[in-house]
Amino acid sequence: MSNASLPAASHADLSPQGFARFCHYITQELGIKMSDAKRPLLQSRLQRRLRALGLHTLEEYQEHIFRSASGEEERVHFIDAITTNKTDFFREPAHFEYLTRTALPGLEATRRPATPETPWHLKLWCAGCSSGEEPYTLTMVLSEFARSRPGFDFSLLATDISTRMLEHAQLGIYTEERVAPIPPTLRTRYLLRSKDPGRTQVRVVPDLRQRVSFRRLNFMDATYAVPERFEVIFFRNVLIYFDKPRQQDVVRKLCRHLIPGGYLFVGHSESLAGLDLPLIAQAPAIYRRRP
Ligand SMILES: C[S@@+](CC[C@H](N)C(=O)[O-])C[C@H]1O[C@@H](n2cnc3c(N)ncnc32)[C@H](O)[C@@H]1O
Repeated sequence: MSNASLPAASHADLSPQGFARFCHYITQELGIKMSDAKRPLLQSRLQRRLRALGLHTLEEYQEHIFRSASGEEERVHFIDAITTNKTDFFREPAHFEYLTRTALPGLEATRRPATPETPWHLKLWCAGCSSGEEPYTLTMVLSEFARSRPGFDFSLLATDISTRMLEHAQLGIYTEERVAPIPPTLRTRYLLRSKDPGRTQVRVVPDLRQRVSFRRLNFMDATYAVPERFEVIFFRNVLIYFDKPRQQDVVRKLCRHLIPGGYLFVGHSESLAGLDLPLIAQAPAIYRRRP
């Protein structure tokens, strides 16, 4: 092979030691599994940070993030850059069907106060909420459920480690393209259009935004600073990034915040098989906490 056919080594390429150091940090801090296959992805995701800081090499960046006084601040941007935040409105729609057809009526039967006029309040946690599509989908689904249930009320806690995602989520502003999976009736009911016809963005209505509290939380924390116990936890498409011991540890901690009989939803490509957890499988990727 001639030299001409070799890819030119970029000045931003990482040495094996440099890559290993990032991997160690990412796995320790975020629980995210790393392998050599992720090296090009990591390198490309950090290019924007290099440009933002006026640095030339990832080694310089490493010095900055791990040694400098402002490293702590940069670590927040680093986490924003390396997390995978793929999400959608009504992603894995079977879960929302199950919620309204089975889980909510079941919870209503056991949790609702005896007198119909007494309000009952459902608490949900959307753990790993990314840019907000999942918690807002839940607010739409629950608002629909509430239409035929006088006295039913709900609130959501939505958490993520990425501050950039949380800021986006809190705004509740999305492009027309992003909201396309929302059924038309719900789009009309729960999204506001700009008065300017040239703008192709919509915003989630204030009533739904007010029902969600967004908070930063790292699943690697020893305990979760969420005081409440929840009837339902959505924890979808996060587990795949963790190794088995961390999966078990994280789900155990989540279970501490789930009422007995409460529901845990994980992603359809995720499995809790082989983990020792106080959960009973109900349907694909849906579990209930043991009484
Ligand atoms: C692929 S998204 C899933 C979003 C949504 N749950 C869904 O299913 O559409 C995974 C989210 O988990 C978050 N995440 C990854 N590691 C985390 C950690 N250690 N603590 C908290 N959030 C984390 C990421 O920032 C990202 O927004």
